[in-house]
Amino acid sequence: MPDAPPEPHLFVVLGATGDLMQRKMLPALYRLSARGEFPAKSLILGAARHSLTDEAFQERAKASLLGEKVGTPAEVEQFCRERLRFQGLGQETPEDYRALSGRIQALEKSSGLPGNRIFYLALPLEAFGPTLTALGEAGLSRGPGFTRVVIEKPFGEDLRSAEALNALLHRHFEEKQVYRIDHYLGKETVQDLLVFRFANMFVESLWNRQGVDHVEITVAESLGVEGRAGYYETSGALRDMIQNHVTQILTLVAMEPPATRDEDAIRNEKVKVLRSAVRLTPADVVRGQYTAGKVGGQAVPGYREEPGVDPGSGTETFVALRVKIANWRWQGVPFFIRTGKRMPAKSSRVVVIFRAPPVSFFQSEEDYEVNPDRLTILIQPEEGFELAFEIKVPGRGIRVQTHHMKFHYADVFGELPDGYETLLLDVMLGDATLFVRADEVEESWSLYDPVLKAPPPVVFYPAGTMGPKEVTRLAEEWGHRWEQG
Ligand code: BG6
Repeated sequence: MPDAPPEPHLFVVLGATGDLMQRKMLPALYRLSARGEFPAKSLILGAARHSLTDEAFQERAKASLLGEKVGTPAEVEQFCRERLRFQGLGQETPEDYRALSGRIQALEKSSGLPGNRIFYLALPLEAFGPTLTALGEAGLSRGPGFTRVVIEKPFGEDLRSAEALNALLHRHFEEKQVYRIDHYLGKETVQDLLVFRFANMFVESLWNRQGVDHVEITVAESLGVEGRAGYYETSGALRDMIQNHVTQILTLVAMEPPATRDEDAIRNEKVKVLRSAVRLTPADVVRGQYTAGKVGGQAVPGYREEPGVDPGSGTETFVALRVKIANWRWQGVPFFIRTGKRMPAKSSRVVVIFRAPPVSFFQSEEDYEVNPDRLTILIQPEEGFELAFEIKVPGRGIRVQTHHMKFHYADVFGELPDGYETLLLDVMLGDATLFVRADEVEESWSLYDPVLKAPPPVVFYPAGTMGPKEVTRLAEEWGHRWEQG
């Protein structure tokens, strides 16, 4: 039912005074409300350890929304006044959670809400367990209507901790109540991978080991750690980007057609990809760390010089790896993957390099070199597709040249919605397709666990480059080279 509006509900944000709420969730909730997709009467109840009045919370929200320029001051003022409430959680004792439960019921009564509740944990990893337990023990995992719980990344820090978190979660909530969020799944181009593949016969017929030579996935960022050293030092690029965002892209590129459009049918196929992926060894991975350099003409410090970073830190800010998917579709087709901070520019893309023709009439003579066709799926900041294929240059004889056919979303649709808007609306609608299931998150950790347990030492790359030179080895040992050097 894609066009049915969500049911009225109470949207409770735990960690409501934090950065995520201010920068991402409030603007997304505001826009949904402005489009009429946040149902009338529904309220947002912020909760955090701070002690704030409703009015003080509304003032803070107003300041961040005005900073994001989402609407006029009058519109923002009205949204904050009508929709936002706050409940302090004190020291987060059982008593504090019973008070939260009391406030929820009081708000539902005074606003005529039917008892549908969404709990959004905008919290750091270490707070997930205690908060889920506290909600469960306060009787908040079930309510008069639906109760859903949304959990941010990182979901664990390795396989064992993810399994433990799932077990704790399932003590209080059923899996169908749980929405593990990965904001990459909210990106239009990531979702369009499904449509592009399964609505276009010409794509799907080549999308296999007969048609594809290898696949390259790059998620490059030009930013550094941006004052998040406390978190990043314990995380690193493998946990921060690969285990979640990049793995989601990988599964959508590699999955089989689902039996139906149903949320579990799609997620089943993604899990199967992860089960077929050959567990990584440290030889399949290069971990890099940026040193001082220049990005976009600006001199930037090295990672170890960033505030809050250990001067001898071994945390990786870049990872490249190679994955084999041992199934009928992909046997023998390598997937080369890399992500990093302080690379030359923000650029996320998947390049599918097709096989060269088995016999070429043009290859033997000078000038007639034929390049394999390449499909580039642009995820961000440009969004769209580019197909590189060979054409004859008009004129005497046969000269072959690569031509690029392009489709860019912006040319046709203008600006695309923010991923958070899409995902928050899906939670309200109860559609879990774009959320990560318990078995999926565990399979993903299990793929990377051997490397997390025995990480190869970091090697260095100057900020503003495509990563350490050791990366070429990953592709060369398997008879390939990276497309974008
Ligand atoms: C977050 C990571 O999940 O994703 C950040 O913690 C990263 O380190 C960010 O910068 C990238 O998201 P996007 O949407 O800007 O590609």
